[in-house]
Amino acid sequence: MNLFYVTTPIYYVNARPHLGHAYTTVVADVLNRFHRMCGRETYFLTGTDEHGDKVVQAAKREGLSPLVYADQISDLFKALWPELDIEYDHFIRTTHPAHMKVVKEVLQKIYDAEDIYFSEYEGAYCFGCERFYTDRELVDGRCPDHKTVPQVIKESNYFFRMSRYQDWLIDYINTHPDFIRPERYKNEVLAFLREPLEDLCISRPKSRLQWGIALPFDDQYVTYVWFDALLNYVSALGYPDGEPLKKFWPAVQHLIAKDILKPHGIYWPIMLKAAGIPLFQHLNVHGYWNVDESKMSKSIGNVVEPLELKSQYGTDTFRYFLMREMVFGLDSSFSEKALVQRINSDLANDLGNLFSRSLTMVHKYFKGIVPKGDAAPESNLDLNIKSEAGKAVQEYKKAMEDLAFHKALMAIWEFINHINKYIDLTAPWELAKRKAQNQELQTVLYNIVEGLRIIAGLIYPIMPRTSLLMNEHLGMSSPQTFQKLDDLIVWGKTRAGTELPKTITLFPRIDEDKLKSLNQDAIMSNETSPSPKPQISMDMFQKMDLRVATVIHAEPVPRSKKLLKLKVNVGKEQTVVAGIAENYQPEDLIGKQVVIVANLKPAKLMGIMSHGMVLTASDGSTFRLVTVDGPSEPGTPLA
Ligand code: MSP
Repeated sequence: MNLFYVTTPIYYVNARPHLGHAYTTVVADVLNRFHRMCGRETYFLTGTDEHGDKVVQAAKREGLSPLVYADQISDLFKALWPELDIEYDHFIRTTHPAHMKVVKEVLQKIYDAEDIYFSEYEGAYCFGCERFYTDRELVDGRCPDHKTVPQVIKESNYFFRMSRYQDWLIDYINTHPDFIRPERYKNEVLAFLREPLEDLCISRPKSRLQWGIALPFDDQYVTYVWFDALLNYVSALGYPDGEPLKKFWPAVQHLIAKDILKPHGIYWPIMLKAAGIPLFQHLNVHGYWNVDESKMSKSIGNVVEPLELKSQYGTDTFRYFLMREMVFGLDSSFSEKALVQRINSDLANDLGNLFSRSLTMVHKYFKGIVPKGDAAPESNLDLNIKSEAGKAVQEYKKAMEDLAFHKALMAIWEFINHINKYIDLTAPWELAKRKAQNQELQTVLYNIVEGLRIIAGLIYPIMPRTSLLMNEHLGMSSPQTFQKLDDLIVWGKTRAGTELPKTITLFPRIDEDKLKSLNQDAIMSNETSPSPKPQISMDMFQKMDLRVATVIHAEPVPRSKKLLKLKVNVGKEQTVVAGIAENYQPEDLIGKQVVIVANLKPAKLMGIMSHGMVLTASDGSTFRLVTVDGPSEPGTPLA
């Protein structure tokens, strides 16, 4: 099949993007790039889910209208994706009129086919989830997500006759074994379908909720947010007769985490069937990212911000870590330490060292000109490295198709190890000592460069920047020549005689001891308590230039939850970035006298140069500014 359409869930606009959202969207981007490499025409959809009570409540808390609030959060998601080198084709918002029109059309179609009926219903309703719960779904009588006791409400509503399709769905899943994958999630859906399937309440009375799409056949009701949201996957392509839909549907692969398996594994196929739309190809379900073994949550304060990780460690390294560390389908635990270890060992050590070591040899022995691969007859070692390359490409391809990204990367790293071994066994430095062996040296170095070309191509979907950089340094100027899997399978595409630029360090090592001090704007909001500090001399202390400063201007730093940019008068004007946004509003700071370390080396935080540091008293979560006990001239030194 030459078409590939990938979707992410459309994210709720009641919270800022975090590591979990970033993971699914990076996976979609990796798959999209991989399928492009395989010569397929691709389409990548993401977006935001903007109706429902949760959004109304969140907007209310911010004192904004739901639409203005949705605009703001949706923009945060939109701005984040390019920062992570995510190249989507379309960003859908469920408040867009074209989407709302499609929802109405599909509802009308299903209503006309008598799969929607009106009825009175009394049941346990969780306002947090915005849905009714059956008794067997509750855990000790409580909502499994919110741990609250649902309220019993009686209401007249519209219902979607899902029960009619239960046997059909069971049969479909059984006859299409990888419709839902990995298998554990298919089994979970089948287990759910062993009990009688209840019809789905797809309306909410306007007396309770106005922020939604009005039902086309009764304007006193709005559409249940899931019935609205799921349709994004077809509305985005211009349902019913848009060109993208005709082309890409049903070559679609949905990506979700296990939290939304039921709507995607049960409601969505039945909705499609009832609306006469062919079913999607695969529902791909991944596990959850936890943080240091506990669930990421705002109340625990351990929500991981992707932008801050990217700013600190770089985009490719972050993408590599996500793909290498999680086994698709299982839960994984995030820790900054693990991220740094992977950067240092897999990237800086294995890949980075091999790359610079190899190119240095080409420069040293052949003045940077790629030598000839067939200069000498092939030895067994040469044959072996070729066959290892072929094996790596095949294993990688199979693993990528199965969404086993960690295995795909392991196949590449195994090949990296083989090249390292090949270098050790052929010992180019020994060959270089003997003139007679110059031809062998040529072949060996050619093979190493060729191996690196294949590695540079294979990492492209996961680390596009590094791939480009490596290729540039391997003398491959045109992306078309290395972004095709077919070209990576063929050995010998590197052209002898190409002049290579000087080598570079692909991944600088991160000093693990300095990790804490580097981390000025903590990546996670739960900082650990400070460790005891060593004694310092008076002399050392006196090197610090502490001064009184008056805040002249303060503003939030875009995309940072914690940082404020301050302009202070410390005898002269200086810009200082401070991590106090969770404790101070910018307007409360104007005129305040604070204490700053005026001679701190300037540092860039979220793209802003900070000249100095504001002193605060902090227990790790709350920050209180250190001030002086009476008006002082700006710039007064502390003694
Ligand atoms: N709006 C619905 C989806 C509608 S799709 C028609 C929704 N939104 S959400 O904002 O809650 O996003 C849920 C999705 O975000 C998960 O399915 C997953 O893709 C991603 N993740 C959120 N938290 C996650 C983790 N802790 N770990 C991994 N991914 C998670 O549900």
